[in-house]
This record gives sequence, structure tokens and C-alpha cells, in this order.
Amino acid sequence: MKAIKDSRFFETIVNYYVRSPSVTLCRIPELELLSQIQLERPVLDHCCGDGYIAATAFSKTIIDAGVDINNEQLAAAQQRGNYKRLERADAGVALPFSDEEFATVINNSGIEHIPDLEVAIAEIARVLKVGGKVYLNVLNSRYFDRWPLNPETAIIYKKFQPFYHALNEEDWRDILEQHNLKNVTFTDYLPESTSKMLASLDYRYSAHYFRKRISPLLILERFLPTSWLIQRWRSMLENLPWEATPGTGSGFLICATKAEV
Ligand SMILES: C[S@@+](CC[C@H](N)C(=O)[O-])C[C@H]1O[C@@H](n2cnc3c(N)ncnc32)[C@H](O)[C@@H]1O
Repeated sequence: MKAIKDSRFFETIVNYYVRSPSVTLCRIPELELLSQIQLERPVLDHCCGDGYIAATAFSKTIIDAGVDINNEQLAAAQQRGNYKRLERADAGVALPFSDEEFATVINNSGIEHIPDLEVAIAEIARVLKVGGKVYLNVLNSRYFDRWPLNPETAIIYKKFQPFYHALNEEDWRDILEQHNLKNVTFTDYLPESTSKMLASLDYRYSAHYFRKRISPLLILERFLPTSWLIQRWRSMLENLPWEATPGTGSGFLICATKAEV
């Protein structure tokens, strides 16, 4: 089973997210799986954020379009220069694209943050061509089934992320098939031990940054040299396995194909 240190992205990511080891831990499997996708053009990066993950997974590729709700993220993506077109929209309301405009839609770690999943999936199905593919990289229900901390903290975490849809395979298949997105497959990542490590790290760091709940340890980290921190994350994360057998990962890459009506 492949470990974090086996990833060709590890050094880049551990240096980039030096203040957020939990982000390093979840981005490695996401990048490993995203980078294996054969992108058929035109491509839409749905909830593109600042474009860093797409630029890292698909280096030297200019993506046809990106959409996000957050202006700051879009400005960063614009500056990065890896999209032909960027649009601001609430993907849970409507996408600013024509019917059947794209052959591929990718969403990395974004769809779970949209409250109205029905509309978000219907809109993805609308903008996809028949035969086009959607790829969703998400944490699933097992992430919360395996939550290693007090159960109350999972409720708090879901609220401040905010994390609306921790679904299992059956739930995802149902909602995708209802919108004519068929041949649904799942590629799992994050086995139980790694999932627990991610949850405890992510709770601690996101409570500090998102909820402004002051952690003396994390304040101390600001004064430590980045080289020391990077070494610390390397030894903490490098031996954790990221691959998982089908039905056992706390995250998966979902793929579905738009069928003829
Ligand atoms: C965890 S970030 C992931 C960003 C990027 N895909 C990546 O992998 O780095 C989630 C992104 O979803 C965007 N987002 C959340 N809700 C959204 C909505 N309703 N419509 C469009 N974008 C949304 C956020 O602004 C954020 O950029």
C-alpha cells in the first residue's frame, strides 16, 4: 500500500502548506488520483479555488474554465494564469455556462461545501456533453464514522468547514444517477489509521484558523523556522499509507459519465 512519502507530490506539498499539515495529508492522495485523470477538453474546474491544486495535478495544462464563489480565490487563480476563463458563481444555484459545454468537470474537495447538492449536481449534468465525465474528490461518511475525537467536535467541525454532505457510495450513486450521470465508480483513499490522523490534525488546525480558537501550540509554531516545521511534518506524515481498498477509504474519487437521455 503506497505511503505519503512515495508520492511525487510530497516534497512540493509539504513545503507549500507549511502551516497546515492536515492540508498536506489530504492533498497528497487527492493529487495522486487527480493527476491520473485523462482530461478531455473542454474542462471545467468546479469550485476551482486559487487553482493551485489543478496547476499541480495538471502541470503545463491551461484549463478551459474555472468557477468559484470566492472572489479572493478567483483573483489568485487569475494571477496563477492556468485558466482560459474564470467565473464567479454560486454553484449551488446556477453555473454561468451553456448546456453541454464541457467534456470533463472536475471538483476537488469542493462539492461537500455546497448546501444544495441536488442543484449543484443537476447543473454539472446540464453543462456536461453526453459521454462527458465528472470527477468528484470527496471525503465520505467513513471519515465521520471513524472520527477519533469527542463526537461533539465532529458536529462543530462540520459547521465551521462547513461540511454538508458526508455521503456513502449508495447515496452518491443515487444522486448522480437521478441526474443521468451513470457508470459511477469510486477509487478509495485514506485508510482508517490515516483518516484518524487527518481528522485530529484538521480539527486542531482548522479550529485555530477558521474559528479563531487560540491554540498556544500553534502560536508557538509561527515563531519556529519553517525548515524545522517541514522536518516535523515529514516525520509525522511520511509513513502513513494513503491508498485504500474499495469500500474502506474515508475519501474517494468518484467518476460518472453523462448518459444519453
Ligand atoms: C477546499 S476549497 C478547494 C479548492 C480547490 N478545488 C482545491 O482543490 O484547492 C473549496 C472551494 O469551494 C468553493 N466553494 C464553496 N462553496 C461554493 C459554491 N456554492 N459555489 C462555488 N464555489 C464554492 C470555495 O470558495 C473554495 O474555493
